[in-house]
Amino acid sequence: MQGYSSAPIARGPLAGISAGGLRRIRFHAGLIAVGGFLFGFDTGVISGALLFIKDDFDLDSFQQGSVVSVLVLGAMAGALGSGRFADRIGRRWIFGLEGAVFLAGTAIAVSATGYGMLVVGRLVLGLAVGAASATVPPYISEISPKEIRGRLLTLNQLMITVGILVAYLVNLAFSGGGTWRAMIGVGALPALVMVASSLWVLPESPEWLLTHGRRAEARALVASVSDEATADRLIEARERNLAAVGDSAAGGAGGDRKAAGWRSLLARRVRPALIVGLALAAGQQFGGINTIIYYAPTIIERTGLTASNAIVYSLAIGVINLVMTLVAIRLIDRAGRRDLLLWSFAAMAVTMGLLGLAFVADWDPVLTLLFMVLYIAGFAGGVGPVFWTLIGEIFPPSASATGASACTAMNWASNFTVSLVFLPAVGLIGEGETFWVFGVISALGLLFTVRFVPETKARDFAEVDRDLHKRFGDRRLAD
Ligand code: BGC
Repeated sequence: MQGYSSAPIARGPLAGISAGGLRRIRFHAGLIAVGGFLFGFDTGVISGALLFIKDDFDLDSFQQGSVVSVLVLGAMAGALGSGRFADRIGRRWIFGLEGAVFLAGTAIAVSATGYGMLVVGRLVLGLAVGAASATVPPYISEISPKEIRGRLLTLNQLMITVGILVAYLVNLAFSGGGTWRAMIGVGALPALVMVASSLWVLPESPEWLLTHGRRAEARALVASVSDEATADRLIEARERNLAAVGDSAAGGAGGDRKAAGWRSLLARRVRPALIVGLALAAGQQFGGINTIIYYAPTIIERTGLTASNAIVYSLAIGVINLVMTLVAIRLIDRAGRRDLLLWSFAAMAVTMGLLGLAFVADWDPVLTLLFMVLYIAGFAGGVGPVFWTLIGEIFPPSASATGASACTAMNWASNFTVSLVFLPAVGLIGEGETFWVFGVISALGLLFTVRFVPETKARDFAEVDRDLHKRFGDRRLAD
């Protein structure tokens, strides 16, 4: 592979990488994050589409619920299944495959002639959403220089929020004619982008090539965005990094790395990362985010405000979600992951407490709305993007795909549980009290972060690994 034409950057932490090469890495990360866009789009589009589908197919409330939640179930399976594939066939090809599954799911859902076929289409879409949500973070992480890795990883969450917002807008645009097939069909376009970029544009991850004994290709890839000396330095650094955690082509965290699969997660070395990832996955969802994202109009209506404005309010939530994610992107490589997480969990706990009070004490509906928006701002400024960033950073390379898979599956399972129990819980203990439960869980998230979550900002994996083992009191692996 040819060296990249424009001159290398002379000084600073990114020295030796060419300006053109950096642009190209950013462009690639942006393309990979299209997987995140479809995550947001396909979870967001159904709220509007369902209004028309239920009349077309005459769906009862159970059937309506299942059209929504079958995607989350599929996503759980997709997230669990994709890690192994990503290790076998590589990051690039799994990405293209996910695009193809997105296309298939969209085609089935768009041409559905009845309830059954629609559910199948949504299930297939879910498989793709789950697989993409598990494989996008490690892929972006592995193609990024560590100094800008955090920012590039937050592109994933940014595209999730853009996808949700675009879904709301598409719903609005097509709602006049009630053309729900067009609403869902819009998702085919980004799916095509995924397939095409996997076939013709995206590189394989250098880490994956190195752990599969393809050093020459890995080096050529790095040399395509840097000068030759820097390519050697970066490849050697990556190899040292892999060796430091016993993670090489010869032997991974669980023995032969190609065959390691799920077993790699059982290794003592991987355990703290797994605990941190799983706990944050659960914390992100049990903090109640999707009760607001999925049920905002219902909650707004309960405050006594008119339903006709509900779409406009959900747009406001979508916009705040996006704007605060942009703020987080600016901060993540400066403030670091831990600080963002700490502030975010604190803000979520406080705003959920206030939201609960607003319901219990029957405050003005405007205050309810205000607390919801502040809660979303708190989530989007930290817990939203940082979770997806960290699961791309805390696992050793041999366990990065399966580790991200497991955490993503936990995220979807928690999402499913919260969406399922939210309305019954409201009926049982009341709105305010349910929000207080979410607030308490966010406070626990804060405590967990203080104690166990390592800083990953601009650190090699080996440093992150030492920090993790120190926090978990494993002296042998901490030194
Ligand atoms: C969460 C999703 C949520 C979205 C909202 C993501 O980080 O995983 O469940 O819907 O943020 O922006």
